[in-house]
Amino acid sequence: MLRKIVRAIPPARNAGRAIREFFRHDEFAMALYRKVFERGRLTLPKIPPEALVADHTSVELPAFHPLFAGEDAPVVDLLFLLALAKSRRPSRILEVGTFRARSTFALHRNCPEAHIVSYDIQVLPSPYRSALKTNPQVELRNASFGASAESLLREKRFDFIFVDGAHDVSAVLSDSQLALRILDPQGIIIWHDYRYNGYRTDQLRVPEALRQVQEGREFFHVQETTCAIYCPGFTWNH
Ligand SMILES: C[S@@+](CC[C@H](N)C(=O)[O-])C[C@H]1O[C@@H](n2cnc3c(N)ncnc32)[C@H](O)[C@@H]1O
Repeated sequence: MLRKIVRAIPPARNAGRAIREFFRHDEFAMALYRKVFERGRLTLPKIPPEALVADHTSVELPAFHPLFAGEDAPVVDLLFLLALAKSRRPSRILEVGTFRARSTFALHRNCPEAHIVSYDIQVLPSPYRSALKTNPQVELRNASFGASAESLLREKRFDFIFVDGAHDVSAVLSDSQLALRILDPQGIIIWHDYRYNGYRTDQLRVPEALRQVQEGREFFHVQETTCAIYCPGFTWNH
């Protein structure tokens, strides 16, 4: 109600925007928000990225302009994702949430032999998308991942799945349940934004969904990243 009133009055709206911008760049406010975000939420055991990635992996990080945009995965998370993909040599990669296809393009550059399928309900023109347009190894599907369940269940299973679509509980829950059904027994799932990602929104509900989908499976939080991971068959001696 208060939000509606503030939005309806331009000076109040501008002041609200300025306050939000200030808090976005204030370290103390960010730390406080992180604490609030993490309070009472699922806390997975932490795993160092080095336990999952081969020591000698060097990755290629493509960078078309603009270098950073909107919902791109942060560079640290992307670096982990690419190093993990490269060291596992998957044959079929699935991404939920293409956005401007930066992560899709980067996955292709680091795993050129893998067949990559990426879903998005929107088509955002970008140099990454253009560069992939005629690439036979990469399919950018303009469709909802969840709504494509029937056809996906008839396809060969995926051995590397990156879940980065909508982040509300029901979306993450249904995307994760479907991801588990189409995962190769030797495959892995990575969820983006399991931890606070710098955005202050009530829609960021990956932990709540993972709590429901976990059902005795061992999930980890990859240290230094916002990613959670399910890696069946992997034993980590900590
Ligand atoms: C955080 S962005 C993806 C970022 C991208 N993976 C990257 O790292 O550059 C999330 C994307 O998921 C898409 N999305 C939302 N709901 C979806 C659904 N049901 N199926 C597929 N994509 C969806 C949004 O349109 C948005 O582009």
